[in-house]
Amino acid sequence: MLNLILFGPPGSGKGTQSEKIIQKYKLVHISTGDLLREEVANQTELGMKAKKIMDSGELVSDRIVIGMIRKKLEEHRAGPGFIFDGFPRTVAQARELRKALTDYDEEISVMISLDVPREELVKRLLNRGKETGRTDDNLETINNRIDVYEKQTIPVAHYYDKMRKYVPVDGMGSIDAIFKRIVKVIDQVK
Ligand code: AP5
Ligand code: MG
Repeated sequence: MLNLILFGPPGSGKGTQSEKIIQKYKLVHISTGDLLREEVANQTELGMKAKKIMDSGELVSDRIVIGMIRKKLEEHRAGPGFIFDGFPRTVAQARELRKALTDYDEEISVMISLDVPREELVKRLLNRGKETGRTDDNLETINNRIDVYEKQTIPVAHYYDKMRKYVPVDGMGSIDAIFKRIVKVIDQVK
């Protein structure tokens, strides 16, 4: 099975590129951010707890996120494979993912990391905030999300780099140009 991690800071294009990847490769898309926003929209207990944390730009607890992931893995254990978007975001999450996939005799094929400079991230997210009203797309929360990414999430890239699974991709340019770069990487590991 093909199991991809699409990695990168907030606003690097993980959601945008995931849509194109699932169309071409027919993978199951798991975005922990989308799953959490669904809980918020449904006003579940989990959603109410998560909303405050998400609006501040901090990370929701590993336990909650891993619980959601395990459920999705079980639902789609027969295939065709996964694209993980916005997960894992801590080394603890990466270790848990490895354990969970091992239970199904699976592993991560590759981590594709989108490189985008901070000024561009802020520009894209402020713009998305205006267009969609996503409540964490305001300057203060955007800056905190990027700081949290640098502190807590970058170590996840090192974790996969040690296993020779980390592949950086230039995340600047048109959406189609970036997609072509991603396809090149996927077709090499497939
Ligand atoms: P999450 O939903 O994962 O948000 P994020 O990481 O902050 O990333 P974004 O969704 O903002 O960016 P993206 O990379 O998907 O970019 P997009 O394609 O949308 O997480 C939200 C919160 O949930 C977290 O802060 C945390 O609290 C919690 N959470 C989620 N997962 C968690 C986990 N595993 N553990 C703990 N907590 C977790 O693009 C951005 C914009 O740019 C769009 O408007 C798009 O149209 C535009 N754009 C895309 N590509 C281009 C391009 N090439 N050129 C110009 N514009 C572009
Ligand atoms: Mg996203």
